[in-house]
Amino acid sequence: MSGIVRDRVVVVTGAGRGIGREHALAFAREGAKVVVNDVGVALDGSGTSGGPAEQVVAEITASGGEAVANTDDVADWAGAERVVGTALETFGRLDVLVNNAGFLRDRMLVNLDEQEWDAVLRVHLKGHFAMLRHAGAHWRAEAKAGRTPDARIINTSSGAGLLGSVGQGNYSAAKAGIAGLTLVASAELARYGVTVNGIAPAARTRMTESAFADDMAAPDGGFDAMDPGNVSPLVVWLGSAESAHVTGRMFEVDGGRVCLMQSWRHGPEEDKGARWEPGELGPVVRKLVDAAPEPEPVYGA
Ligand SMILES: NC(=O)c1ccc[n+]([C@@H]2O[C@H](COP(=O)([O-])OP(=O)(O)OC[C@H]3O[C@@H](n4cnc5c(N)ncnc54)[C@H](O)[C@@H]3O)[C@@H](O)[C@H]2O)c1
Repeated sequence: MSGIVRDRVVVVTGAGRGIGREHALAFAREGAKVVVNDVGVALDGSGTSGGPAEQVVAEITASGGEAVANTDDVADWAGAERVVGTALETFGRLDVLVNNAGFLRDRMLVNLDEQEWDAVLRVHLKGHFAMLRHAGAHWRAEAKAGRTPDARIINTSSGAGLLGSVGQGNYSAAKAGIAGLTLVASAELARYGVTVNGIAPAARTRMTESAFADDMAAPDGGFDAMDPGNVSPLVVWLGSAESAHVTGRMFEVDGGRVCLMQSWRHGPEEDKGARWEPGELGPVVRKLVDAAPEPEPVYGA
């Protein structure tokens, strides 16, 4: 191991299972001190358990690393503040926030109810904001006290948020919101020494086990492209001092692949210099659509 994040203090949310667990283990292997946050809910967000966070801490400490568990709900305002407080009280500083926690309540839009909408928007979008708000306020105070941080936030979006995903209207909206939040946060927090990037991972976890079944794993024990551990090296690098020049970016990452996503851009346009009549716009819009590349298909369409 290169020790690329040696002695950096890292919070990983939702780190008791799946991709977050791999991030926590990978940061610890590279010398970081890790706050393993996980409220321990079921796949649909129900119930709570301290078990998953404690287990990952036990794994890290058993291999000689440093970690502490936190079981707060990241979408609870005071809970998110306590997660940041756990890093400061235990390790005396905070360098990296990896926002990863979340769950699914999938349904076609016409069947999606209000609770399913609210719960998924809350955990992903408010959960990301609450964590970055409390971490950001700490880093701003550090910068104002003359201790400009070299800090990182890595958010977790999804292909569902960037391209859309049938049956996941609530989740896609939350993950698209996270992509927008990443852009604003990267612009606002740069002055305090904080970079903010996002990832759209794909890996086999309980969240995706039906989509990426075990039989997609390499049969001969070779490279398993859907292993959640494949996502973490990029997240560790983004959390390191080396990534200072990269901010406001979104990476799709799975298997051995790292893809820089190119977001909404200004495309073909026509400016009349005056207000359009509705009846004039048919041929104008047709010309613009013809001149632009086809959008990428929505997942599952
Ligand atoms: N697995 C994939 O292919 C995939 C694809 C795109 C995006 N993602 C995203 O990656 C992240 C991790 O997903 P995963 O596949 O590892 O899922 P997972 O269910 O294995 O792990 C998520 C963890 O988050 C925890 N959690 C949920 N709500 C929480 C809360 N309010 N506070 C603290 N912890 C909470 C859960 O207890 C769980 O341990 C999620 O944001 C997910 O949307 C995953």
